[in-house]
Amino acid sequence: MSLYSLSETVSTLYSIKYMKIEKLHQFHDPEFSQGWSDRFKPTPARLELFDTILAEVRKLPSDKKKVLELGIGPGYLAAHILGKDANIYYEGLDYATPMLNIAAKRNEAYKDRLIYTQADLTSKHWDDQVQHQPDAIVSTWALHDLFNQDNIFNVYQIAYKILPKGGILLNGDFIKPENSPFEYEGGRIKPSTHLALLMEAGFDTVSIIKELEKNVMEPTTANNYSCFMAIK
Ligand SMILES: C[S@@+](CC[C@H](N)C(=O)[O-])C[C@H]1O[C@@H](n2cnc3c(N)ncnc32)[C@H](O)[C@@H]1O
Repeated sequence: MSLYSLSETVSTLYSIKYMKIEKLHQFHDPEFSQGWSDRFKPTPARLELFDTILAEVRKLPSDKKKVLELGIGPGYLAAHILGKDANIYYEGLDYATPMLNIAAKRNEAYKDRLIYTQADLTSKHWDDQVQHQPDAIVSTWALHDLFNQDNIFNVYQIAYKILPKGGILLNGDFIKPENSPFEYEGGRIKPSTHLALLMEAGFDTVSIIKELEKNVMEPTTANNYSCFMAIK
């Protein structure tokens, strides 16, 4: 077992013992990121989230749809979307060089429709790095890693700023169930909080379009995630 797998296991066991739903990562480390991405293979439930996001993107009116993914990670969502729709053009944003490299390798076949952007989503100016105005901004299992609600709100505000009228934001992420008796890390917030933050950021129409692997009384760091949709 590598040092990083060991520290991840220790942190998971610590969290379970004290029943705090939390998982800390070292995405800037190449060995950690490779191991993490090898283990994070899409399950049927995760693929259902990908298809939910793809279906909404496909409803957009433009012929060439431009998608910006926040936290492209190892590029599973990107590969799913680009593999299923040749009219989608993609910008994958991440702050971690190892993840950008892994995503590029996985998505080599789609390199004509995919560009990469390195930026830190906790910055107040991450949109300065964005290269194309997107029709849709998507994200899966990334924003809870931003530590707290303020950073998620910052992302929602900037997403609202850069989307055109009618553009959509689709965020599928780990949440804290409304009635959970357990303690969660700061970035795993309640669905009602996501909806309130999206509205405060300026979005007109906000909703929960999917709830997956919901388990209030037996939470893990990998279950309880929902997809939020916001229309500008
Ligand atoms: C779970 S992965 C995303 C998985 C991806 N959606 C997929 O389908 O393969 C989360 C990603 O968010 C990125 N991330 C975490 N914090 C970030 C930050 N502050 N700014 C930019 N990216 C961040 C991590 O580097 C990681 O690659």
